[in-house]
Amino acid sequence: MKGIVLAGGLGSRLFPLTKITNKHLLPVYDKPMIYYPIMTLVDAGITEIMVVTGGSHAGSFLRLLGNGTEFGLKGINYAYQEKEGGIAEALGLAEYFADNDKCVVVLGDNILEKSIKDEVEKFDAQKEGGRILIKESPTPERFGVVEFDGDNIKRVIEKPEDPPTNYVVTGVYMYDSQVFDFIKGLAPSDRGELEITDVNNMYIQKGQLKYSKLDGWWTDAGTFRSLLKASNLVAESRGKKLET
Ligand code: G1P
Repeated sequence: MKGIVLAGGLGSRLFPLTKITNKHLLPVYDKPMIYYPIMTLVDAGITEIMVVTGGSHAGSFLRLLGNGTEFGLKGINYAYQEKEGGIAEALGLAEYFADNDKCVVVLGDNILEKSIKDEVEKFDAQKEGGRILIKESPTPERFGVVEFDGDNIKRVIEKPEDPPTNYVVTGVYMYDSQVFDFIKGLAPSDRGELEITDVNNMYIQKGQLKYSKLDGWWTDAGTFRSLLKASNLVAESRGKKLET
């Protein structure tokens, strides 16, 4: 199983914080943001990791992460996204790294309280297809929103004005090697990007997308409010650990 962290984009929602650095290098409490998705993957037992980044601060990732020894890794692989083509385009750059293995993809601005080890094990046991982690959100319109048909997911709708549920798709995606063919068949959305939501809908159409409800808190950190929230949540959970 391979791990992929997607850390490209312009971080325009955090301007001017992102004028001189990449969003994923900004602090979340006591660590750079990108440490958290890497720790999530390492904790799940994944040892082969690729970071996909882009923009004009890509060299800073190398300086910060080096060979990943801080995370107990022997090395980190890097890819560079030359255009702002979206999450699915960034993932497509990891095809040679995935090398027909299954992969666990974590968005570089997603921070999770608890381990995803059990979910990764469930996915490992899956013969084929994908698995996403969903979570109830008070602001579903900011995310990919899940519409159900009984217990199954009927479709995912990207940032709907009128969300059918408050279950949103977190930035943890587990895919088999079909994902790279799906990405090649994508057309850009209205915002000119290849959308990960379209990839998930392709798996749904094949009846191959499973899901789990995520345990513990989860947040992205791509807006001023969520960046602050992420720092506060991490600080609180550290506090809890110190007390016990
Ligand atoms: C992306 C996805 C969205 C998902 C979210 C999770 O949104 O497009 O479906 O719910 O990540 O963080 P973005 O924050 O890149 O707009």
